[in-house]
Amino acid sequence: MYLVELGVKWAMHPFLHNQFELDTASIRKIRDLGITRVKVDPRRGRGAADGGSAKEAEPPPRRASKAKGDGDGRRWARQLTQEARSAVRDLVRDARAGRALRMQDIDEISEELSVALYEHPDAMLAFGRIRSRDQYTYQHSVNVGVLLMAFARYLRMPEPHVRALGSAGIVHDIGKTLLPDAIIAKPGPLTPEEYQQVKDHPWRGAELLRQTPGATSLAVRIAEQHHERIDGTGYPYGLSGRELSIETRMAAIVDVYDAVTAIRSYHRGRPPTEGLRIIASEAGQALDATLIRRFVRCVGIYPPGSLVRLSTGKLAVVLEAHKRAADKPRVRVVYDISAERMIDPPPILDLSQGHPAHRIERAEDPASWALPPERFL
Ligand SMILES: [Fe+2]
Repeated sequence: MYLVELGVKWAMHPFLHNQFELDTASIRKIRDLGITRVKVDPRRGRGAADGGSAKEAEPPPRRASKAKGDGDGRRWARQLTQEARSAVRDLVRDARAGRALRMQDIDEISEELSVALYEHPDAMLAFGRIRSRDQYTYQHSVNVGVLLMAFARYLRMPEPHVRALGSAGIVHDIGKTLLPDAIIAKPGPLTPEEYQQVKDHPWRGAELLRQTPGATSLAVRIAEQHHERIDGTGYPYGLSGRELSIETRMAAIVDVYDAVTAIRSYHRGRPPTEGLRIIASEAGQALDATLIRRFVRCVGIYPPGSLVRLSTGKLAVVLEAHKRAADKPRVRVVYDISAERMIDPPPILDLSQGHPAHRIERAEDPASWALPPERFL
């Protein structure tokens, strides 16, 4: 059953969209909101019937018990991130099937992510790094949107521009989704011809967006130029220096950072500190040095979701960064290295609040310890 009208504005309900496939969990949430009447379209969604028209459905009434933003903000941030990924996957599938990309829906996702990022920045940045085996491109796309919005806010860009950058980030790799599955999912090295096709994804994405109603020139530019580098070594056109706008330079930094720091349970990801070191090594050559310094201050040297070793011989997961004390975040202490045991329950320490014995010694690779940080966020 496909819901087409909930009867309340998006700000008043916890769903990513006003229209979506109904399942047991969403019906329960609708009941919890106290909504007693919704409109469904039997022609849409899984198991859709042929023919028919939109009709009213009545979920059993129950009083609202919670609203968006209340209760566990971290859980909401995690759920929103997952819903955004699924929604982007569905939109892109539609586009691959030859239907027009619904930019309005992308803008709506961007808007909702921008609210969540405003209310729970650390949770959004932490959950954004977590990847599953499949759907890498969609997860990366959503997170580039989130990171671009965080970066734009840090640079005090106007809010409408922040959200426009969010949408642009979400569709920046849309050209990649047009590649044959055989190339996208190929486990081994690509042939020169296949590699050339991959290198064509920026201009192919830009072409698609130029034909998409509602796609901004900013989105077209970022799709087309996010692999360009200021020293002219990028592709597809080898643009350089002032030919690249500040937004394009930001997108290049965010794209590389997200690709190298993603937490992948199936693959050795790099700690964020290593990701920052990689982009810093490109500073002033391929990537903009001033913007890199600002980006490092924006995400912090130990971004949320990082695994760190404390001077007490314990491992901790970073929950929240402090902008004024970048090396003293709020952490959850999860593992005692010398005792070789998990700490249960894992205490939360705010290192900025007078815990001199608990300095961070260094970032650790979660894969080395088989400790996925997402378990402790
Ligand atoms: Fe790309």
